[in-house]
Amino acid sequence: MVLDLVPHNSRIKKKATIHARESRPAGPAVALPKGAPGSQHEPTDIRLGRILRLLTENATVVVSGTKIAQEISSNRSEVWRLIQQLRGLGVDVAGHPATGYQLRSVPDLLLPEILQPLIRGTIFDSHFHHYYKIGSTNVAGMSAAADGAPEGSVFLAEEQTAGRGRGAHAWHSTRSVGIYCSVVLRPMLPPSEVLVLSLAAGLAVDEAIQQMDSRMQLDLKWPNDVLIGGKKVCGILTEMNAEITQVRYIVVGIGINVNQASFPEELDGLATSLRLQSGSEWSRVELAAALLKSLHREYRKFLEEADAKKSILRRFAERSSWVSGKAVRIEDGGSSSDGAFEGITEGLDDRGFLRVRTARGVRTVLSGTVRERGMLDS
Ligand code: BTN
Repeated sequence: MVLDLVPHNSRIKKKATIHARESRPAGPAVALPKGAPGSQHEPTDIRLGRILRLLTENATVVVSGTKIAQEISSNRSEVWRLIQQLRGLGVDVAGHPATGYQLRSVPDLLLPEILQPLIRGTIFDSHFHHYYKIGSTNVAGMSAAADGAPEGSVFLAEEQTAGRGRGAHAWHSTRSVGIYCSVVLRPMLPPSEVLVLSLAAGLAVDEAIQQMDSRMQLDLKWPNDVLIGGKKVCGILTEMNAEITQVRYIVVGIGINVNQASFPEELDGLATSLRLQSGSEWSRVELAAALLKSLHREYRKFLEEADAKKSILRRFAERSSWVSGKAVRIEDGGSSSDGAFEGITEGLDDRGFLRVRTARGVRTVLSGTVRERGMLDS
């Protein structure tokens, strides 16, 4: 049974992946140019990250091509080719083979070399997969999990070409302005408890953003959106593979709109970014690190603390204007097959489902799209 946990609201493959900690023999670069066969799903050539780390550690000096070549066990012409690739990705490197190279500014790329040191001690620090471009990190995560990827595996991309939202919607995933992240979890749980875990992921996003900038006025929308000013800044797609009584694995996919300066017309009034809300650029690296750390904390609490479920439901309700007293319309598969209905939200039940008081009594929303009544969309 493969389940998309809860249907969606907005519109906003499989490849062996390389663990950043493993050494990889020098070979053909795999961060292929746009349109090259396989470029959609190839994990990042880890030599790019190593070069970046070397240049970052020696930021005040020019590093010779020979030294870089030694570092990546390759030759100077290969170094030149990789430097050109880094430039193509927006990394500002000065120099050429004759002079050596120097980083002009530290790039905000979610490379393992940059991110992993910041998340040491979490369950996410060891099996890290980075892609410059991929179809969907959730698809990669589900596929890797089916092949046995361990708990804590992380899939991060600079760009998704087929980013997936809930309810088969797309997730707008422009290069290097958002965080597109999926993690594999393997909790010993019945499928009925996964919704609470998914709500905890929303809390983790909330904590991470707040930690970076406490001025952000975030609102958690059941089940899994994070809004600012009524517009979506983050969406979460939780997918699982389970037997009737036992989860095999879960992939929690998180998309955060970070530095987008604008959105396509069809998202007008629906989506926003942290940059648009705060008026300044955010460090995606710092935010991604804060996110993985808060996700780690929430997950540990969920597994280890006796009253964790209650605490998650309580905190979610506290951080959400949608859980109680909101006039809503539920569409696309609410608690019964007779279509949309309207009512006033009346809290979460003990499994995390939304309760809505209607003219015919209280109904429990198991799935569907929750819209504020009177709003065209949300
Ligand atoms: C939603 O519809 O609100 C959920 C959006 C989830 C988007 C994220 S981006 C990372 C991961 N990969 C995907 O294809 N989707 C999720």
